[in-house]
Amino acid sequence: MTQEKIELNVRTAVRDRYSKIAETFEAGTAADCCSDTATSSCCGDSDADARNEVVHLSAIEKFYKEADADTLPEEVTGLSLGCGDPVTLAALTPGQSVLDLGSGGGIDCFLAGQQVGPEGHVIGVDMTPAMLEKARANKAKVGADNVEFRLGEIEHLPVSDASIDVIISNCVINLSTDKPQVFREMYRAMRPGGKIAVSDMVTEGELPNGLKDSLSAWAGCVSGALDVEEYISGIKEAGFVDVEITPVYLDRDQVDDAVRQLGGEIQLDGLSKEAVYKAVFSAKITARKPV
Ligand SMILES: C[S@@+](CC[C@H](N)C(=O)[O-])C[C@H]1O[C@@H](n2cnc3c(N)ncnc32)[C@H](O)[C@@H]1O
Repeated sequence: MTQEKIELNVRTAVRDRYSKIAETFEAGTAADCCSDTATSSCCGDSDADARNEVVHLSAIEKFYKEADADTLPEEVTGLSLGCGDPVTLAALTPGQSVLDLGSGGGIDCFLAGQQVGPEGHVIGVDMTPAMLEKARANKAKVGADNVEFRLGEIEHLPVSDASIDVIISNCVINLSTDKPQVFREMYRAMRPGGKIAVSDMVTEGELPNGLKDSLSAWAGCVSGALDVEEYISGIKEAGFVDVEITPVYLDRDQVDDAVRQLGGEIQLDGLSKEAVYKAVFSAKITARKPV
């Protein structure tokens, strides 16, 4: 199979998966993209600010500040599929233009919209039509006049050059089959001096195949995750500077439980358990486009 064909297959599988999630989601429940366990997230919890902090997988209220989550309806919070809180990381100010890569049901767009205010503007981009439909229905429900959703791929962003102040993304870039192209597109779309604030799953060090398979079966997001060093160099190669990555480790018992529920055990393949639990994590990533 050619590389092109493989990439097309992966993209189709990703789109199918999120179509199904969007189509079957019902408000009052928590959508789940990664496991048989009923957690509302794809990947983990980024409720904590401290560097290297170990956190527990939990529901939407734990991912975001309670006060933020409370401002949004269940149609939005229940369809939250991220692994962090990029809006808090972005420290937005009124009047900014914001782009959300892989906006899903729109949670981060609506939170960003509240912060940039009527003078600001938020664009959410997603390649899954069923997800876009949910996001647009949510926009009407929330009354978010400064938020819009566009159908598109993050590898070919439907925005003009140097038009965006801040790019956010929540557990999406790891799903891309061409991450260097995503970073190049982010650079093109951003105005000089603009900022990236991304939550994403990354790996650290060589992962034994058995481990990668068992974790990816659980986490979904992990299978395409980049090594942290590759992530940093990919962002730098696109032209960004001041790249910072802060790990937020996953809860060990829950990783164990989730993998066991799928009928497997984490295969250590010679690694210590300590190394295994730190091999995959949700990362807070920030960077800047030079002026
Ligand atoms: C894990 S969900 C995260 C959704 C949202 N960011 C959140 O936090 O709830 C991934 C989303 O990214 C979209 N997506 C995945 N790959 C994409 C790509 N290459 N281009 C555009 N959207 C993509 C999917 O359709 C899905 O809505």
